[in-house]
Amino acid sequence: MAETTKIKTIGVLTSGGDAPGMNAAIRAVVRHGLSKGMKVYGIYRGYTGLMEEDIKEMRAGDVSDTIEKGGTILKTARCKEMRTPEGIARAVEVCHKYGIEGLVVIGGDGSYRGAEKLANEGINVIGVPGTIDLDIACTEYTIGFDTAVNTAMEAIDKVRDTSSSHERCSIIEVMGRAAGYIALWCGIANGAEDIILPEKYDYDEQKLIDNIIDNKRRGKTHHIIINAEGVGHSASMARRIEAATGIETRATILGYMQRGGSPTCKDRVYASTMGCIAVDLLAQGKTKRVVSYSNGAFRDYDINEGLAMTKNIDEYQIEIARSLSHNYYKSEALADGREA
Ligand code: F6P
Repeated sequence: MAETTKIKTIGVLTSGGDAPGMNAAIRAVVRHGLSKGMKVYGIYRGYTGLMEEDIKEMRAGDVSDTIEKGGTILKTARCKEMRTPEGIARAVEVCHKYGIEGLVVIGGDGSYRGAEKLANEGINVIGVPGTIDLDIACTEYTIGFDTAVNTAMEAIDKVRDTSSSHERCSIIEVMGRAAGYIALWCGIANGAEDIILPEKYDYDEQKLIDNIIDNKRRGKTHHIIINAEGVGHSASMARRIEAATGIETRATILGYMQRGGSPTCKDRVYASTMGCIAVDLLAQGKTKRVVSYSNGAFRDYDINEGLAMTKNIDEYQIEIARSLSHNYYKSEALADGREA
């Protein structure tokens, strides 16, 4: 028998950049909500669709065959109107019209800011972290990062094959907006010779050039540099490096392919869990919370508390990346008692 809850009608929307695993979260909200006796509305095109009443009542079958699909079946948008009092008023008006008492917002920090404003107007709101960038401070996991970083890793392996065959240097730019998590993880996973991160911007082009020449001299057939989107300028960097080293250098910007594709098992399972937690929180009458995964457990934080948190890129991971890559020859030389 369906459990009775304080909230009878909920809505779910995806907002900001899409991320693989969002469909698993939507599916979880729909089916877990229905199992609790709630009416569940799917809101299309994020807050824009909410304001334009692009809304559909969801049945369990509406989310069949979606868990394995990339993107978001609800579509998504970046909605500037949510930053205006008129936009908020319109969103609240539509929620009242449809009887939507609780709303699950799957997205990033920008989406939570809109959610927080709706919560201040009496709509119960729960945020679920959805972004490939992993740049939400209150959580160590965001929906889509695992798939995106695996997609980028596989693409970089392929670039490495051709780079090595042609004995070229390759600069591969990965997504992440202002955050370097995808770059750092790929740097380690792909064994990159160099990683350029916005959080640790100690970029020294001459050092990079010396490194490339040194590696070539010692017999390395490729030199992979992972550059984060937040640093950018990969094409001009490649031109300067080629001119200075005499080694053919190519820039590859991986771009939007990192956001697509079927979600990994981790993204499907964690997104499903987070979607269910969001519904449970609404069922308990909670509002203004954001679901998180930190220190080995799923938890939830006050949205404002979550938005005020900061997180730093892991210094030890950076050290690992550097120790395992271009220091390789130096460490070998040191072990042999030679000058590094
Ligand atoms: O937030 C995800 C992300 O893909 C970032 O990595 C990137 O900077 C941004 O979205 C691109 O946004 P848009 O889809 O609006 O071009």
